[in-house]
Amino acid sequence: MTVLTTSPSLADNLTAILTTADPMAKVELAKQTAKSWFNQGMSLGLQSQAHQLPTRPARPDKPVLRPPREMPRRRIGGAKGRIAHIHALAHIEFNAIDMAFDLVARFLFTDVPRSFFSDFIQIGVEEAKHFSLLNRRLKQLGSEYGALPAHDGLWQTVEQTGHDLLARLAIVPLVLEARGLDVTPSMIEKFKNAGDPETARILHIIYTDEKRHVATGMRWFLYHCQLSGKTPQPTFHDIVRTYFRGGLKPPFNDKARSQAGLTPGFYKPMMVT
Ligand SMILES: [Fe+2]
Ligand SMILES: [Fe+2]
Repeated sequence: MTVLTTSPSLADNLTAILTTADPMAKVELAKQTAKSWFNQGMSLGLQSQAHQLPTRPARPDKPVLRPPREMPRRRIGGAKGRIAHIHALAHIEFNAIDMAFDLVARFLFTDVPRSFFSDFIQIGVEEAKHFSLLNRRLKQLGSEYGALPAHDGLWQTVEQTGHDLLARLAIVPLVLEARGLDVTPSMIEKFKNAGDPETARILHIIYTDEKRHVATGMRWFLYHCQLSGKTPQPTFHDIVRTYFRGGLKPPFNDKARSQAGLTPGFYKPMMVT
């Protein structure tokens, strides 16, 4: 486990998070980073550290990663299906921790305000909370994160946008996290119907936080579009065409998306039927 000593910089902390494989150690580092950033006002660190970032964050030996098409279909009905579903969600949240901190790390020495870092550090620590809640639930059900295989598609999509802040903002909060808003309400109902109100309660916490994550992503996407003189919707369409070739799958949660500022003009033209 990485232990940070004597007033490390934000760059030190971010590198530590991304290079730590152990899930609970990553969670602890995420919490420690957020606490230090918000309470003490850390320095950003040295620009040379930005070049030492791993292309892919460290991953534990388990779960075994498989191509998405090799993952079995899951139904929430029985206990096994519920565990498989929660495990898949825990894997998404585990990746989301790295997505948030990688975004801060990769663009740490570009021309962005400190409030940009604060917003995504806050998101990162909330992803760590989501992962912890789901992993604790898995343990209550006699399993844990790593006990089942997981799919390897998420980071591949993220990796390609490491050089382009607008593309990263479009793909992570406005495509991947927005997808969470589409699927979570029906999942909450399925867990309730399967007699698992506790998992439904956790998913409701996640859903509430994720609406804010999409809204934050949208705010910064618009800010950076304005700064670079780009028109938001066509820019978003170009990015999705380049980096998310499968297109966006309906049904969309239009209400939650619009509340986050992600109006249909952004995503409807990118819809696949
Ligand atoms: Fe999350
Ligand atoms: Fe999120």
